Amino acid sequence: MMKEILSIKDSAQEEINNTDNLDAVQNIRIKYLGKKGILTNKIKALSAIAKEERREFGRILNETKDYIENLLIRKEALFKAAELDNVLKTQRIDVTVPGCFTPFGHLHPTTKVLDEIIEIFLSMGFRIEEGPEVELDYYNFEALNFPKDHPARDMQDTFYITDDVVLRTHTSSVQIRIMEKHNPPLKVIAPGKVYRCDADVSHTPMFQQLEGFMVDKSISMSDLKGILEVFAHAVFGPKTPVRFRPSFFPFTEPSAEVDIGCVICSGKGCSVCKNTGWIEILGAGMINPRVFEKVGYDPDLYTGFAFGMGIERITMLKYGIDDIRLFFENDKRFLEQF
Ligand code: DAH
Repeated sequence: MMKEILSIKDSAQEEINNTDNLDAVQNIRIKYLGKKGILTNKIKALSAIAKEERREFGRILNETKDYIENLLIRKEALFKAAELDNVLKTQRIDVTVPGCFTPFGHLHPTTKVLDEIIEIFLSMGFRIEEGPEVELDYYNFEALNFPKDHPARDMQDTFYITDDVVLRTHTSSVQIRIMEKHNPPLKVIAPGKVYRCDADVSHTPMFQQLEGFMVDKSISMSDLKGILEVFAHAVFGPKTPVRFRPSFFPFTEPSAEVDIGCVICSGKGCSVCKNTGWIEILGAGMINPRVFEKVGYDPDLYTGFAFGMGIERITMLKYGIDDIRLFFENDKRFLEQF
């Protein structure tokens, strides 16, 4: 028995000495110490020998097992060190190579400007409401005092879905929906998408508007002027001149268009302002008593103002962009500038 154990020890030692790779070491471990390994079998066979000898042989077998295991571990460590050495020699890390960056996107310029505008009105106590983009003719036109077949409907090239259903041409429709449901006092802004059958450098079939309106017992045109001046100064700078010019909208009386001093030439006259020194930024006015009648408000009791602006237009003026279509092309060279 003793001889056998010594010869197992010797042959294991010799095999371990002669290995030249990690896999071979592993195979030797299995061959001698695995479940059915040569030494393992010897340990299992202990039960068959006489009790007196069992103890002594058990000790010797365990020592031999530890001895072989140690040789295996040392050999493994050698191969692992050599492998690491090799990796370090052949695959050097160049810490000066630029890292891989995940490019971050950001909000679209019109979204940024819309958020900025919303923030300005929220700070003045307005609340946000929304309405449907597919809208009844009634809310888009009729209740806003555009009677059927009235020439004022030509102001807006409408996409009709049926005779009674349109893609809303403006966010003014939300005025009616909100006033129908709620009594004054009201101080509301309504941002959203609107649609018109129109396309050139300053028009796209879909664009965004922000509507605003305020109704209470003694709202006057000076409230409108004050609020819109605060808005214009916040967006275009505190020294920007603002003027109201008489205009016409069926749902306001009187109506006005609001201009700011040209942001390009500061009022001296250029091609953008067509040499007038002024640029229109929005439409506004005092809500027409006819509209109040439609929603069941008493026009003798309540007055109110309303205004509506195009978000793309404001963004173009703020950043000096001369073609509205750039907003929809998704050219990163354009978008990255904001
Ligand atoms: N809805 C008008 C348009 O799209 C803009 C507008 C003008 C809205 C005057 C208003 C307003 O609320 O009072 O052209």
